[in-house]
Parts: sequence; C-alpha cells; structure tokens
Amino acid sequence: MSPFLVTRTLPEDATEAALRADVLHGLTTAPKTLPPKWFYDAHGSELFEKITELPEYYPTRAEREILIARAGEIAAATGARTLVELGSGSSEKTRHLLDALTALRTYVPVDVSESALTQAGHALIAERPGLDVHALIADFTAEFALPDTPGPRLVAFLGGTIGNLLPAERAAFLGSVRALLSPGDALLLGTDLVKDESVLVAAYDDAAGVTAEFDKNVLAVVNRELGADFDPDAFDHVAVWDAEHEWIEMRLRARTAQTVKIPALDLAVDFADGEDLRTEVSAKFREDGVRRELSSAGLELTHWWTDAEGRFALSLSVA
Ligand code: AVJ
Repeated sequence: MSPFLVTRTLPEDATEAALRADVLHGLTTAPKTLPPKWFYDAHGSELFEKITELPEYYPTRAEREILIARAGEIAAATGARTLVELGSGSSEKTRHLLDALTALRTYVPVDVSESALTQAGHALIAERPGLDVHALIADFTAEFALPDTPGPRLVAFLGGTIGNLLPAERAAFLGSVRALLSPGDALLLGTDLVKDESVLVAAYDDAAGVTAEFDKNVLAVVNRELGADFDPDAFDHVAVWDAEHEWIEMRLRARTAQTVKIPALDLAVDFADGEDLRTEVSAKFREDGVRRELSSAGLELTHWWTDAEGRFALSLSVA
C-alpha cells in the first residue's frame, strides 16, 4: 500500500474565525458582499456537482474536453513527477491528467475541505497503487508551503476558480504560486473565457433553479455557523454580467426591507427593499489578459488550449 498522508496547515478553528471575519466585514460594508468560498459546505458542494451537469453550465464539460485532448501534451511538456492540485475538491477531472502523466510519483491535492480530500485520496490510492498521495488541508488563497516531493512539479488550478478572485487578489495569488515553483516546474491554469452575455447569464441562472439554490445556501451556512436568522425565501437569486470588469456577479436581492440578526457577531443587519448582497464574482478572461497577469507574476505562458467552441481555456506557464 502506498502512503496516504494528510497534513493540516489550517488550525481547526481557523475556518470559523475566517467566516466570522468575512461576514462581519462583508455585511457592514456597502455594497454588501460575502466571499464565494462559503458556498461549499457538504450541501453546497453537492449542489455545485449538480451545477456541473446542467445544460447551461458549460465550463466543466469544456474544460474536460480540453484535458482529454491535451493531457498527453501536458505530460510531454512538463515531465511532471509531482502534481499539486489547488482546490482539488472531488479530484474528478484530475483523473485524465493522472492517467497521462507517466512520470508521476506523487499527487498533492490541496483543499480546505478535509472530507473531500480524504474521500478523493482514499479512492485514488486504491485505484493507483504506487502513487503517493499527500493531501494538504490548506487555504490556497493564503500562504502555504508544499511538502518536499520529487520535481518537476506541475501545479494545477482548474475549473476557472481563479475567476472568483478580484484582480488584486489574483495578482497576490499568482505571486504566491510563482514562489512555490522552481525552474522546470509549471502551472496549469483553467480560465473561463469572455463570450456572449446571454450564454454567461444562463450559466449562472439556470432554468431548473439549481444555481439559485446554491447561491442561497450561503445564507444557510451563516445561519447554521453563526446562529443568524436569514430567510432564504426573502431573497431572489440574480446573475449580472459586468461588461466593464468582464465578470459575472451572483447576488441575492432582498425581496422586502428586512433586518437579519447574527447573534455570534452581536450584529443586526438591515436590508433595504431590493438591496443586493454580492455572493460571487466569476471573472471571464481573454488570452492577452491571462498572458499579462501571468507575466506580472513572473510566469511565462507557453501553451494556450481551448475547447472546440472557444468557451474555456487551459494554459501552461513556467517560472
Ligand atoms: C467553481 C468557482 C469555477 O465560478 O463558475 C458555479 C462556481 N458559481 N455556478 C464558477 C459557480 C455558480 C464556479 N467555480
């Protein structure tokens, strides 16, 4: 049996403290915001898995198409012996990479969700004897160190999740990824691309209402963790395309004026009728912008691959 190690770099109570700080800041600042990372409790993660199967939500299928088509090229270009996956979640798409990376010895999934990590990790080592799995419970938007594993390393950040970061946060994030890389290492980055507004809005406001339920789940998380009394039915889910910033915003719009109590923060929050709470920014990219942002972080783009319809891109860059 190959080793399955789990390293925690997050203190057990860090999540709760971070949630309190984010809710306090986000709900007492205008406009009101909550960071999207709080969607993903067990129920939210299930809802996200459902989203990836919706007809309107193309990014997962488009990225899988690219991975299947290009995994061999990625393996040849990187010769990776360690694959580090940031925000690995269920590690589902990663299997295509793991299959193609013939020199691979070690897989390092990094996620804040211990349950996702241990589930995916145990499944993987059962399927792939000989692969070392060293899971890292860490918040990849904060600084963290990688375990000492064989190079070259390929760091993968898939799904377009980098779009959840605001431009300044992206620059800081790419800088810290760059700092993890040695010469010969590479970054594989998934980015959703700018496209027709109607396609984008539909992807974030599906007809079956799964995304609306996902969006409102953040209220259930705040209710459960901080004792708040949000009524999810008192809010409407909306998806808005911001053409200037080229990002989608998900918002929860108050259906009436209301006050929400958050006992753990000793806080009462007033919402005006129609007031929006922004729950997610999902930025969409163009090749030039991705190249520029990588370059500013000291990374050179070497490969740019899209799906046949040009909806989504995977890029490879080197330190
Ligand atoms: C998991 C962050 C890539 O922004 O498209 C899906 C999350 N939000 N539907 C995205 C999400 C609404 C998703 N990411």
